[in-house]
Amino acid sequence: MIEIENVRKSFGALEVLKGINLTVSKGEVLTVIGGSGSGKSTLLTCINGLEPIDSGRILVDGTEVHARSTDLNKLRTKIGIVFQQWNAFPHLTVLENVMLAPRKVLRMPKAKAEEVAVKQLRHVGLGEKLGVYPSRMSGGQQQRMAIARALAMSPSYMLFDEVTSALDPMLVGEVLDTLRMLASEGMTMICVTHEMKFAREVSDRVAFFHQGVIAEIAPPDQLFSAPQNPETQKFLAATH
Ligand SMILES: Nc1ncnc2c1ncn2[C@@H]1O[C@H](COP(=O)(O)OP(=O)(O)O)[C@@H](O)[C@H]1O
Ligand SMILES: [Mg+2]
Repeated sequence: MIEIENVRKSFGALEVLKGINLTVSKGEVLTVIGGSGSGKSTLLTCINGLEPIDSGRILVDGTEVHARSTDLNKLRTKIGIVFQQWNAFPHLTVLENVMLAPRKVLRMPKAKAEEVAVKQLRHVGLGEKLGVYPSRMSGGQQQRMAIARALAMSPSYMLFDEVTSALDPMLVGEVLDTLRMLASEGMTMICVTHEMKFAREVSDRVAFFHQGVIAEIAPPDQLFSAPQNPETQKFLAATH
């Protein structure tokens, strides 16, 4: 599981995370909602050690992410992260792009990496696109390729940061369907999203971020139907 204990983080004078406490259990789907600049992305990058923290601690399966003794490269193989946009290598095919990390990081033999990459590309519905170059794919297909790329490392956790925000509305559905599929398979996920309907359907819990704190966290029915915090109420009213 992921345990976040009183995590604080500033960029210069700006305190972005002001004492975050959060536990995400194995198999749980947590969605994170909140206004721009509230610290959602920063939290994700702290969880996989891309960003240092100022105080508190984050444990992933009991390993303290920011401890000096922690092998971050090894830890990161457990935590897949997908962003709004991923710039695939344009000179490599879809299959070659997805094979890259298993080859380089996990040192998989070529045949094995290919097997894993094909499996994950089929899994996200791109089995017909193996030999295609990324530029020939739609935004939705590119995001599914990015998800397959993360899954090819066999992560225990997946972090998604507004993976549909850069997409044409027409293409959002296919990417959300992929996330729904992963959730139904029991993947442990933290999804930062603006898609409230998706959050409502797929989450075990929803966390509302406001100015660097979790202002409210609750099961979706409760958070969306009967938000307790006035800031949550304001935010939900503005997004409808
Ligand atoms: N690398 C950085 N350097 C300086 N400020 C940053 C950096 N990353 C984020 N911030 C600032 O931290 C705040 C929170 O950002 P972020 O976590 O991206 O919010 P969100 O994802 O909720 O929109 C914002 O004010 C943002 O400008
Ligand atoms: Mg963000």
